[in-house]
Amino acid sequence: MPDELSAADIIAESAGPKAVAETDRAPSEEPEQFSPRLANARDMIITEHVDKWFGDFQALDDVSLRIKEEEIVVILGPSGSGKSTYIRCLNRLEEHDAGRIVIDDIELNEDVRALQAIRSEVGMVFQQFNLFPHLSVLSNITLGPQKVRHMPKLEAEALAMQLLERVGIPEQADKFPAQLSGGQQQRVAIARALAMQPKIMLFDEPTSALDPEMIKEVLDVMQELAESGMTMIVVTHEMGFAREVADRLVFFDEGALVEQGTPEHFFTNPREERTKLFLSQIL
Ligand SMILES: Nc1ncnc2c1ncn2[C@@H]1O[C@H](COP(=O)(O)OP(=O)(O)OP(=O)(O)O)[C@@H](O)[C@H]1O
Ligand SMILES: [Mg+2]
Repeated sequence: MPDELSAADIIAESAGPKAVAETDRAPSEEPEQFSPRLANARDMIITEHVDKWFGDFQALDDVSLRIKEEEIVVILGPSGSGKSTYIRCLNRLEEHDAGRIVIDDIELNEDVRALQAIRSEVGMVFQQFNLFPHLSVLSNITLGPQKVRHMPKLEAEALAMQLLERVGIPEQADKFPAQLSGGQQQRVAIARALAMQPKIMLFDEPTSALDPEMIKEVLDVMQELAESGMTMIVVTHEMGFAREVADRLVFFDEGALVEQGTPEHFFTNPREERTKLFLSQIL
């Protein structure tokens, strides 16, 4: 085994001598490590030196992160560390102030067409499910495909039923959101996002508003999605999910990307004091 070089080793070797000594690197400039299964995958999300300010408060500070197609990244960090701001910048719910964001080869800038392209590729699921209360479950899911993708009604309904099967609640199609449990509503929200056939799914604490007994049913749907090859970024405190499903964990603090690595790295050998402190508080 020691004689075998991994693909990453070969790439590192062929890149020549390292310009910067390991110890001199800023945390966000450390080499990104990808799971072997992603060795040949292309970059789906590129963020370089991203800053975000709210007035004179800096919410994101020089965040650089590349995410591969089909990669599952879990973002951890204390409240206020910029996790939501980061993923909201990825579909331009927030505009970044400096740096670059490129999603599936489309650069996020003032170009409205680029924005529309991104929005149709990036699905998002929030802590609060944000379903339309006056629409049935089925109509919540068919609305996007019909209005945005101009899909005929019957086709949109067939797609919606297929997605409700996938998230395990086809029998709820004709109910209204208020008639469902939190876990069921969140599964509808996931089905609604999937109905737009996104290439990337962003989850912002999707289980934080749920009663404990409903968390697993939502995590199971997310795990199935991860295994189906979706590119996903998940902000969550569910460490079981992070450990089992994530290819990579990323730790934010005070707007900066402090540390990243495999779940094994985080759970056995975190490097930064801030990471250790955070993990000691939540594990
Ligand atoms: N629209 C806004 N206007 C002003 N400040 C904001 C705005 N949105 C976020 N912030 C601030 O930016 C910082 C980062 O917020 P963000 O919501 O990204 O944190 P977070 O890591 O998602 O926290 P939490 O775990 O509590 O959800 C916080 O201090 C927050 O108060
Ligand atoms: Mg948040």
